[in-house]
Amino acid sequence: MSSEQERARRVVPFRAKVVEPIHLLPREERSRRIERAGLCLFALKGDDVYVDLLTDSGTGSLSTNQLAAMMTGDESYAGSRSFDKMADRFREITGLPFVIPSHQGRGAERVLNSVLVRPHSIVPGNSHFDTTKAHIELAGGRCVDCTIEAGKDSATVHPFKGNVDVPKLQKTIEEVGARNVAYVLITITCNSGGGQPVSMANIREVSTLCRARGVPVFFDAARFAENAWFIREREAGYGNKPVREIVREMFSYVDGCTMSSKKDAIVPMGGLIAVRDQGLFDALKTPTILFEGFYTYGGMSGMMMEALAQGLDDVMQEDYLRHRIGQIAQLGAGLRAAGVPIVEPVGGHAVFVDGRRFYPHVPEDQFPAQLLCVELYKEGGVRTVEVGANLIGRDPDTGENIRPALDLCRLAVPRRAYFQEHLDYVVDVVATVFEGQRDRTRGLAFEHEAAGIRHFSSTFRYL
Ligand code: F0G
Repeated sequence: MSSEQERARRVVPFRAKVVEPIHLLPREERSRRIERAGLCLFALKGDDVYVDLLTDSGTGSLSTNQLAAMMTGDESYAGSRSFDKMADRFREITGLPFVIPSHQGRGAERVLNSVLVRPHSIVPGNSHFDTTKAHIELAGGRCVDCTIEAGKDSATVHPFKGNVDVPKLQKTIEEVGARNVAYVLITITCNSGGGQPVSMANIREVSTLCRARGVPVFFDAARFAENAWFIREREAGYGNKPVREIVREMFSYVDGCTMSSKKDAIVPMGGLIAVRDQGLFDALKTPTILFEGFYTYGGMSGMMMEALAQGLDDVMQEDYLRHRIGQIAQLGAGLRAAGVPIVEPVGGHAVFVDGRRFYPHVPEDQFPAQLLCVELYKEGGVRTVEVGANLIGRDPDTGENIRPALDLCRLAVPRRAYFQEHLDYVVDVVATVFEGQRDRTRGLAFEHEAAGIRHFSSTFRYL
């Protein structure tokens, strides 16, 4: 028997009303399909997969309230009522007055960076996401990673491993001069670092440092609500604060944000930019029209903007966040109990398995994390994604392979989509591969290394 409090923690604040059939293919068929895909998880068909943990992006289940709102979507090309609803909701939540929709997060990144980044300017931050980094580079800028040291080690336990190393940031700004810093980007939660949160104190410190030097600060806000939940759970002084208040305070320290709405806003497609400054807002309009669409839809349908407005509300419900973060924590606990080396503490949207520690005898340049992704699919039809040596790519200046601090296999959990049974099954699959393959000494090599962003289409062969 458990206490009432413990039981309350296990409450699942939704139930299924519509379901989507999924199937597990036989083992030989899985092997055939992954070989045919060139050991590239992105080349599998959705129907090849049983439990799809490739991403938490655009894969969440819609709520009945979202579906109901979608029926009222206004598809006016300009001045859509649904845009107003979405922009009002975002304004109310964040306090950022000017909102521009985009078709997804990277659309927002392209528009913002085309205005803010000049050739040779830099954008320091905490482990930029790959599309973000690529858009900054496309605009002629360079990223400087200023994540704290603890965030680069999978075994170090720290409550806010997404934090920015403030002395390093200060040194970086001083070295290049504030006017060569386009802006500072804080990714909440920090996806590339393992879904790790950033503390309120850290956000405040970065903001103070930058405001004194006239450097704008932006959020990459894809998982803002999950970050707020961690602040509430882990940071002194926030334990009794409503999530809404925490979110509002977080955004009070920044000049704007880009957001992929496919994560915490729980829509299949969408993104946005929000800014505090009218002049910047005006400057963003033309690139938005060119790249995304008129600035009251930016590539989104009225229906999706309705769903987004409601999704923002759904995601800040505390019973939702308790369940969401709890589900990931439980997946992490299952893997930890099986001895699987995971990034600690477990992040907000995913559990990350440390490929180098999983396969200690596979050389680092033989893509141990990619190998693990392949083996998990073969073992149980579970699709995951490598966030490591393949993803990080080559240095744009030297062409050398970058060796990332961590070589990870990410198990990202879609929102409101899978049951505990699915996740128990996943633990079993990972544990089986771990038991059976720990002594493996050989990994993978590129069969074909795709040019540019190589993560999505490079193929591999077994060594
Ligand atoms: N920023 C972060 C932190 C992200 O995680 C993503 C996407 C983006 C920006 C780009 O947004 O996909 O809407 O264009 N992350 C997905 C993932 C793809 O699987 O982590 P997008």
